[in-house]
Amino acid sequence: MTVSDRAAEAVRAAIRDHGPIGFDEYMELALYGPGGFYEEPPVGVEGDFVTSPHVHEVFASLLGAGLRELGRLLGGPSPMRITEVGAGDGTLAAELRRALADLPIEYTAVERSPGARRALQAVGIEAAEDMPAGSHIVFAHELLDNLPFRLLRGGLEVRIDLDGDRLVEVRVEPDDELLQLLDGPRPPGETVLPTGAFAFVDLVAARLADPGYVLLIDYGAVGETGGPVHGYRAHRIVEDPLSDPGSADITAGVDFARISRRAASLALTAYPPVTQRHALSRLGFEAWIKQELARQAEQLESSRGVEAVRTWSGRSRATLLVDPEALGRMRWLLLATEGLPAPSFIA
Ligand SMILES: C[S@@+](CC[C@H](N)C(=O)[O-])C[C@H]1O[C@@H](n2cnc3c(N)ncnc32)[C@H](O)[C@@H]1O
Repeated sequence: MTVSDRAAEAVRAAIRDHGPIGFDEYMELALYGPGGFYEEPPVGVEGDFVTSPHVHEVFASLLGAGLRELGRLLGGPSPMRITEVGAGDGTLAAELRRALADLPIEYTAVERSPGARRALQAVGIEAAEDMPAGSHIVFAHELLDNLPFRLLRGGLEVRIDLDGDRLVEVRVEPDDELLQLLDGPRPPGETVLPTGAFAFVDLVAARLADPGYVLLIDYGAVGETGGPVHGYRAHRIVEDPLSDPGSADITAGVDFARISRRAASLALTAYPPVTQRHALSRLGFEAWIKQELARQAEQLESSRGVEAVRTWSGRSRATLLVDPEALGRMRWLLLATEGLPAPSFIA
């Protein structure tokens, strides 16, 4: 049985056991169950999709500058406890730990995927399975859009059923819990109710130190998700997320307004989300580009052509991080305990 067969079989078994399952349960099995998409880290050029830390290490270095500023605004706790949730293969964690090596930090990488925990161990990081209490800064990069959610379409809840062996979508009257979460009239189109992201925000609020910051970086929009639920495999969009569970990512953009409201209900201040383009520019992206141009010119002048080509290619790759059509459109949402100021990269 292949990896994705195991996930598909687990989905079928759940439906046979207790009837049509919610989209959240489907995601849980297809992404995180045995044979699920995240059993092994799928991120990277050789994998299914690329995230910012895999594009260029300048991402970690600028994010590190942002975390440094948050640490200053927190009054420079020593040790400064930083927790990264959903650390994947540890690319970002390893680079951030290097970038912040001069600070008294205690860095915890949290991962639920066994394969990702092995990858983290390979770069010298012993991952935790659960978020520790008392972190001064909690951050998550591309986590929220992969947390299980419930789904409404045309005012009805989407559930996954079987037609023979084939997975099919059925629509049922939403239950009271879902209607409560919806908190308003039933929209006619597709509505994502981010139950997993809400549970995550609740847990962070309970475990964050006071004072403390939470930085959430993800795809999405404000007041909407910014696009339909979809899959992702081998760097391509998969339109039907039911087609081969376990073989593709399943995701929807984050509605940052919903997350901000949830955080506010837990006494956290939610600053208006900014684009990654804005945040990285404030943290010095353009200054870094100028520096790289000067390095390239110097390499050319001293007849180090191959190095100059490498510098050019790295710089050109890094522009994806701020490209409004690419990773630059991601949003950075900062939450804070009461009374903390906004850092320069958010203001
Ligand atoms: C899209 S990947 C992003 C990985 C990495 N942050 C990056 O940007 O390359 C999402 C990661 O979050 C992990 N994850 C999902 N739910 C989690 C949870 N509740 N706690 C910890 N990790 C989780 C997955 O296993 C996966 O490695």
